[in-house]
Order: sequence, then structure tokens, then C-alpha cells
Amino acid sequence: MHEIIIMETLELSKCCVISIAIVVFISFDVLPCALCFTSFVFGDSLVDAGNNDYLFTLSKADSPPYGIDFKPSDGQPTGRFTNGRTISDIIGQSLGAKSFPPPYLAPNTQADAIVKGINYASGASGILDETGFLFIGRIRLREQVDNFEQSRKYMVNVMGENRTRDLLKKAIFSLTIGSNDVLNYIQPSIPFLGGGDHRVSKTTFQDFMVSNLTIQLKRLHKLGARKFVVVGVGPLGCIPFVRAINLLPRGECSIKVNQIIQGYNQKLSQQLNRLNQKMGPEAIFVYANSYDIFTSIIINHHQYGFENANKPCCGGYFPPFVCFMRHNANTSSSSTSSGLCEDRSKYVFWDAYHPTEAANLIISNKLLYGDKTISFPINVRELYNYTIS
Ligand SMILES: *[C@@H]1O[C@H](CO)[C@@H](O)[C@H](O)[C@H]1NC(C)=O
Ligand SMILES: *[C@@H]1O[C@H](CO)[C@@H](O)[C@H](O)[C@H]1NC(C)=O
Ligand SMILES: *[C@@H]1O[C@H](CO)[C@@H](O)[C@H](O)[C@H]1NC(C)=O
Ligand SMILES: *[C@@H]1O[C@H](CO)[C@@H](O)[C@H](O)[C@H]1NC(C)=O
Repeated sequence: MHEIIIMETLELSKCCVISIAIVVFISFDVLPCALCFTSFVFGDSLVDAGNNDYLFTLSKADSPPYGIDFKPSDGQPTGRFTNGRTISDIIGQSLGAKSFPPPYLAPNTQADAIVKGINYASGASGILDETGFLFIGRIRLREQVDNFEQSRKYMVNVMGENRTRDLLKKAIFSLTIGSNDVLNYIQPSIPFLGGGDHRVSKTTFQDFMVSNLTIQLKRLHKLGARKFVVVGVGPLGCIPFVRAINLLPRGECSIKVNQIIQGYNQKLSQQLNRLNQKMGPEAIFVYANSYDIFTSIIINHHQYGFENANKPCCGGYFPPFVCFMRHNANTSSSSTSSGLCEDRSKYVFWDAYHPTEAANLIISNKLLYGDKTISFPINVRELYNYTIS
């Protein structure tokens, strides 16, 4: 078993090969990868790095032009729902990760947990089990945590309980989820929580989201997670999909939808404060205020270097919003023939739901270095440096 790990590790990031060898042969006298950045990523399509490619699902990003700016794949699709890197990709790189945590469902992923973490995220998934059922396949948050439990068993087999505990204590656990729950809730044609008139009230719905998410946070804590980043839901009332289904004029956001989200975010951040009071300082829960960051990008898009904060770069402004590339289109000629925008760095939205890599870069930088209004009680850079006793 150890030999297999070493061989697999050789293909991984260079920074970790040596330390893993030490871990295996010098009976764990040195902590694995003291200088490596390990992260475990949970969430939806905002951070899915390819898990849905292994599912039977309508929520997939496995064809061009998805990934067109993703350098490690030479512009080929990887299952990421954007043109380049996701927020968790960028944050990992900024903190020194030499490669991205692989998708849990990809072959041979388990061994990677020890050096660079694993990505469990799945497009169309939500906090609530029902969320995303129209897309058929997706890994619900509860199941993502089940999968982490499996990875943890593997780690304990290889490294033992104590070393696993030490590694998990240093790793960052990020959860970027909740958007699909809100999207399902606001679409009246979808029978959700009883459907139509039987739909629960906004407040009850927000409470369901927070309490169900809390259950998973506590499960992760029990499994050894200590450093959490919980990303709030962004201003979905402003994404092209919601603008279009609500027939909103150019530049306007759905206030109704954004109010539901702001209510949820407020309850979430209060809940994280309570968890910090109860479980800190041996555990820390950071609230990431993606709502304000993204709103600021949309409102001040010119200041951030964007030309368009309305139309998606790919797939057009009207349903069904399909983002695809015609067979014979090449990158230079595709701007008109496939509906792909000319300059992807000038658009806030990649498709009707997801930000471009350019927008993800700004969001990531704010989360890494932002003040307490953006990331509370500390920012992600400080979290990386935060030592759990
Ligand atoms: C694991 O840690 C506990 C205390 O934290 C210690 O008693 C035990 O001996 C350790 N086990 C190994 C195998 O080092
Ligand atoms: C979780 O959400 C479901 C609805 O999806 C709800 O019925 C249930 O009560 C929630 N659980 C908690 C603990 O809030
Ligand atoms: C590809 O782009 C080149 C340069 O713009 C153009 O001359 C050519 O006709 C394009 N090919 C196709 C198949 O569209
Ligand atoms: C990280 O923490 C160490 C020790 O607490 C400190 O010396 C170092 O300056 C910190 N680095 C950053 C970038 O905050």
C-alpha cells in the first residue's frame, strides 16, 4: 500500500514528494508536507473541479468552451463551470499550492488527500437534499461529507489516527454552497418543499438552510476539521439567468431574490459567530461575504476593468442559455459563430450562472486579503496562518 502511494505521489506536486517519502520511511517523524497547502473543498458548480463528469447528470461542464483559459489542461474542459480557474483554485495557488485538489470521483484520488486535499464539490448540488433534482445526478452536501469520511478512513489507514488529526488541523475546509437551494426556491414551477402554495415561508426556508448546513459543519468538525471558510450566497438576483426569467431590464437585479439571500447570509454569519464562541479557539469558522464583493463588482464593473456586467460571455442572454462551441469554430473566429464573447477578461459573467475567471480573481483576492467586512473574523490569508493548538 505504501509503495503505491509513493509512486502516485511522484506524479503530484514536487513540493510534496520528499515529505511523503519521509512520512512513509522515517515512520512519520516529520509532519507531511509542512510547507504544502492542503484544502478540502465542498460546494456546488462554483467550485466543482470535475466531479460531475463522473455522474449521469444534466449539470456538466465537459465540452468546449468551458475551460478555454484553464492552462493546466491546455484549454480543454475539466468539468469546471467557468472559462478558467475557480475561486478555490485561485486561493489555493495564492497560498502556495502547486496543484489543485483533484475531484473525489476521479480515479486514484484518495492518495492525494494526504498532500493536497480533495475536491468534493458537485454542480447542481445544494445544502438541502431535494435541491437540484431536476438535474438528476449531483452529490448533495450530506454526501460530500460522507465522501470525506471515506477519505479520512483512507488517511487513517496510511498515516494513523494522530498524523491524520494533525494534518486535518492544518487544512482549510471550504464550503461554497447554497446558491442552488435559493434558485430552486425561487422557481415557482418546481415542486419544492411541498411545491407551489405549500412552499415554506422565506424565513423557514433560510432557517432550514442554516440548520442543515450546521449539521454538516458539525460532522466535519467531529471528523477533525478545524479551519473552516463558509462562503455566503452571492447576489443571484443579478445573474443573467435570474434577470432573464424575471424579465428584468438591462442592469437591474431582482430585489426579491436578493432579499432572500441577504436574510440567509445574515443568519449564516450569526450562526458562524455562535460556532466560534462555542468551539473556538480550537476551531475557527470564517464567514466569506461573497455577496458584497460580487455586488461591488457588478455596480463598479468599469473600475474593476470590466466592460460588461449584464450579458454572459458565453451562451447568450435568453433561455436556454446553452454555452457551447461549434465544431469548426476556432478561437479567433468563434466570437460570433458560437456566441462566445470576444474578450473574456472584460466580462463579469461567463455563462448565465457563473462568473468568469477574471471575476473569480477579484473575488479571491478580496477573500484572501480583505478586511472584516469581507471575511470575518479573519481573512483567508490569516486563516491559512492560523494555528490550532
Ligand atoms: C496518539 O496521541 C495520543 C495522545 O494525543 C497518545 O497517547 C498516543 O500514544 C498517540 N499514538 C501514537 C501511535 O503515537
Ligand atoms: C433540513 O431541511 C429540510 C428541508 O429540506 C427540513 O425538513 C429539515 O427540518 C431541516 N433540518 C433541520 C435540522 O433544520
Ligand atoms: C479560423 O480563424 C482564421 C483566422 O481568423 C480564419 O482565417 C479561418 O477561416 C477560421 N477557420 C474556421 C474554420 O472558421
Ligand atoms: C504567519 O505566522 C507566523 C508565526 O505566527 C508569523 O511569523 C508570520 O509573519 C505570519 N505570516 C503572515 C504572512 O502573516
